Amino acid sequence: MEKLSGEELQNNKLLLLGKLSASIAHEIRNPLSAIRLNLESIKINSDSLGDDELESVDACLEAVERIHFIIENTLVLSKSQSDEITKVELNEAASDAVELMKSFSKRYNVKIEKNFSPRLMYVNLNKNKLLQIIINLLTNSLEASENGSVVIINTNVDSNNVVLKVSDSGRGMTEEVKSKIFDDFFTTKSVGTGIGLSVCRQLVDEANGTIDIESTPEVGTTVIVKLPSVSN
Ligand SMILES: Nc1ncnc2c1ncn2[C@@H]1O[C@H](COP(=O)(O)OP(=O)(O)OP(=O)(O)O)[C@@H](O)[C@H]1O
Ligand SMILES: [Mg+2]
Repeated sequence: MEKLSGEELQNNKLLLLGKLSASIAHEIRNPLSAIRLNLESIKINSDSLGDDELESVDACLEAVERIHFIIENTLVLSKSQSDEITKVELNEAASDAVELMKSFSKRYNVKIEKNFSPRLMYVNLNKNKLLQIIINLLTNSLEASENGSVVIINTNVDSNNVVLKVSDSGRGMTEEVKSKIFDDFFTTKSVGTGIGLSVCRQLVDEANGTIDIESTPEVGTTVIVKLPSVSN
């Protein structure tokens, strides 16, 4: 048998690890949905629950959400998601993402302000993937923001692209941090996994778009995503 070079061995290992994490992520999806459904049904029938118990249920639901997004991000990185491309409207996806982030933004006491173009803007992308890009960006902005501040999500068109901007007036990044943020597993957070922006970059690349960051320490950050627009 031919001997593999060090690099080939490493690549093989990475391939196997990717497959393994994808299959674990798949397996976790269903029981996680069951946990979420049960927690929601406990909440709906919450007449007999006290404030403390309700708070515990909410904390569990938030933890489930967190696991859910880690899993979805893992599946993107291991490229084992279903790849059905559809036409999706940017404002609709952005609204859905803001809605999904509601409990998170409440917990951080940061308001998400929508500043949307009145136009309908279509892109060729799986809706879940577009949601995932927006949610990863909103999550980062909320995590970087001070209590009581505002995150702005802006949509617009620019020649042949649709443009999504997420801006915060949070802690910002140094040039050194900025140069590493798209690396897999780079994080400055104690509980971060460092895959949010890698996933955004991969999804934006797949859609032939661009992602740019403007950031100043202690002033804030704006992430600009451009995706080729398609006509209605
Ligand atoms: N809006 C932002 N403001 C300040 N720093 C940011 C912002 N967005 C990203 N960063 C920096 O980029 C790093 C990488 O972000 P990324 O989303 O890839 O990972 P993470 O947020 O640390 O972890 P994960 O997204 O996997 O939970 C962050 O740890 C942070 O240092
Ligand atoms: Mg993140």
